[in-house]
Amino acid sequence: MTLLRIDASILGAASASSELADLVLAEWTAERPDEKVVTRHLGAEPLPSDAWATAIGAGYTPEDQRSDAQKAAVALAKDLHDELTSADAVVLAFPLYNWGISQHVKTWLDLVIAGGQAGAPILQGKPVVLLSTRGGNYSKGTPKEGWDHSTPFLRRVITEVWGADLTVVEREFTLVGVNPALDQFAELGAQLKKEAHEAATAAGKALAAK
Ligand SMILES: Cc1cc2nc3c(=O)[nH]c(=O)nc-3n(C[C@H](O)[C@H](O)[C@H](O)COP(=O)(O)O)c2cc1C
Repeated sequence: MTLLRIDASILGAASASSELADLVLAEWTAERPDEKVVTRHLGAEPLPSDAWATAIGAGYTPEDQRSDAQKAAVALAKDLHDELTSADAVVLAFPLYNWGISQHVKTWLDLVIAGGQAGAPILQGKPVVLLSTRGGNYSKGTPKEGWDHSTPFLRRVITEVWGADLTVVEREFTLVGVNPALDQFAELGAQLKKEAHEAATAAGKALAAK
């Protein structure tokens, strides 16, 4: 069994999504200490943002006429696709930035799709845990309801396109305690953090038991 963990925070050690992923991984490794864990950090080591367009361009170029850059982009896309499809379980720590997925995540996603067959159910039945963090609160009834364009998009691709067995753990209000304007929500922020951490631990236990 191989677990693939992908982080995407740009906030380094302060990352709330990586903290959730650590909780999932702690349960996984406690239960499966000898299983292989592959890691990738899209925030700390971003993929080249032009690689996807270059790989797509290669598709319109006869193989013997491809540039070195096109060959490298095609190889990168295939590597990322194969890395994902050869995993038996996947943990994705993908934060909300500017109301959507970051360009780091979009580049990864585009390259994975370019590296295989678009629309193929490449994770059919495989367990995926998505850890979604956001500074504000987008829950039902809040003024920002509907403004999280990351989680619904990822949910759609991961389940409806890739066919995975998805568990989503969400933590709202991560900026409570960081942004003084949110100090009035201190109690709620602490409660949401506790609930998200418990959900991540439960998701890790369930993943390890699969
Ligand atoms: C550049 C940037 C843009 C952000 N955009 C949003 C946003 O649109 N909505 C929101 O609720 N929080 C936003 N945040 C806050 C992050 O969602 C929050 O810090 C979250 O914890 C990020 O996950 P991470 O801690 O794993 O990086 C933004 C943070 C940064 C640094």
